[in-house]
Amino acid sequence: MTTTHDALEDPRNADIKIYVNGALKHRDEAMVSVYDSGFMLGDGMWEGMRLYDGTWAFFDDHMDRFFDSCKAVSLDVGMDRAGILEALTLTAEANGMHTDVHCRLMLTRGVKVKPFQHPKLSQSGPTLVIIMEHSKPATELVQGIRLATVPQVRGLPMSQDAKYNSHSKLNCVIACLQAEQAGADEGLMLDPHGFVNTTNACNFFIVRRGEVWTSTGDYCMNGVTRAKVIELCRAEGIPVFEKNYSLYEAYGAEEAFLTGTFGAQTPVASIDGKPIGDGARPVMERIRALYKQAVARDTGASIA
Ligand SMILES: Cc1ncc(COP(=O)(O)O)c(C=O)c1O
Repeated sequence: MTTTHDALEDPRNADIKIYVNGALKHRDEAMVSVYDSGFMLGDGMWEGMRLYDGTWAFFDDHMDRFFDSCKAVSLDVGMDRAGILEALTLTAEANGMHTDVHCRLMLTRGVKVKPFQHPKLSQSGPTLVIIMEHSKPATELVQGIRLATVPQVRGLPMSQDAKYNSHSKLNCVIACLQAEQAGADEGLMLDPHGFVNTTNACNFFIVRRGEVWTSTGDYCMNGVTRAKVIELCRAEGIPVFEKNYSLYEAYGAEEAFLTGTFGAQTPVASIDGKPIGDGARPVMERIRALYKQAVARDTGASIA
């Protein structure tokens, strides 16, 4: 069983320090209250980011999404993006981390005075937690992961907009369980009209006749990596389309790959047991190289 978020084992992660509202605690002692809105209701927003040679890749894009999400649910961050950067720097320094680091930045509406839903019951300010781990994507992912199409779909934006990177990920977790029970690594999710949309944890692309296709973006996470891939294709003259397409076209694709901050571009080996292409992935490889260069331009990191 592989997942798109498998990382190489790193013993240093056993002793990391975690930021909890300004304090840095050993991972065994880092706690939030059982009254916390994030624990009780999934009422919070998060971002996953990567540190390359001391710089958070595409920091402004992540902060745009984070602050937009928080604003949309009236969650007061309590600091600006410079404050967030300071908290990230503090955590990285406390852990002696400089590169190959993944972080999960989480903000909830904070501790409630009673175990009920109303946001007004959170009265002591938000809870900010930063978990940083030494992290390199596992090399087996190069083989490609197995997707299964799952019954759980992406919803319409007026229910719970898929653009919220919210603590509540139950829709995605259900999809992931369904995929696992179907013997796959990750779930391929359709939109309410039956078009191929996204996976439970990443954005999804196919390559057909040399063209790169991804969903319209209407029902999926507005992934930072997804946007970069589209931008890079456009800049380099690789034909790219955000469009509706069905499983028929996905099964017959020459290549398929996922995008996300953690794994950058992860190849897909099969969908519903059908192998994708012949295993050659020239378009994804080209995009991967372009993406590495874009990260290097953004962070000043050297290209591995
Ligand atoms: C459901 C889902 N799709 C896609 C992504 C990838 O987004 P990004 O490229 O910004 O990491 C994420 C990451 O948070 C996600 O949770």
